[in-house]
Amino acid sequence: MFPIDVESLRLFLHVLAATIWVGGQITLGALVPVLRRAGADIPRVAARQFGRLGWTAFAVLIATGVWNLASYDEKDRHGFAATISLKLVFVALSGIAALLHTHAKSRLWLALGGAAAAAFSLAALFLGVVLGQ
Ligand code: HEM
Repeated sequence: MFPIDVESLRLFLHVLAATIWVGGQITLGALVPVLRRAGADIPRVAARQFGRLGWTAFAVLIATGVWNLASYDEKDRHGFAATISLKLVFVALSGIAALLHTHAKSRLWLALGGAAAAAFSLAALFLGVVLGQ
């Protein structure tokens, strides 16, 4: 059995939060057509409920991300600074786009904000995996 230590817990919490933040957005997006058929207001009610879990996961991502950064032992590896910087830009953009999405007044901005939040989250996820290699 491989050793289970604090590092396992740190990465487990980071990846769990990433599955909720990224996977939750994609799943909710896929459910919108059927939610809309259930009632005009249902997508908004479901999205607000997801928001409670989603923003908690985002906060856990930031907290465990800082912990990851503090524990990262390859900071002097060539390309680390560029990779983590680009990842943090995508993390910030995913949060800002999700916030604009939750406050959007028109269907167009709702769709654009939601698509942008998911796209930036996927980019942060990908760079996370690159950092973990
Ligand atoms: C949308 C937000 C984020 C997503 C989806 C995300 C996703 C991931 C994923 C999937 C990994 C790979 C874990 C592994 O290899 O087992 C990872 C690693 C990492 N993440 Fe994030 N992350 C996010 C936010 C952050 C933030 C805000 C920071 C820093 C403040 C951060 C810093 C790191 C570091 C340093 C690693 C490498 C950990 C290691 O290999 O020891 N992440 N991230």
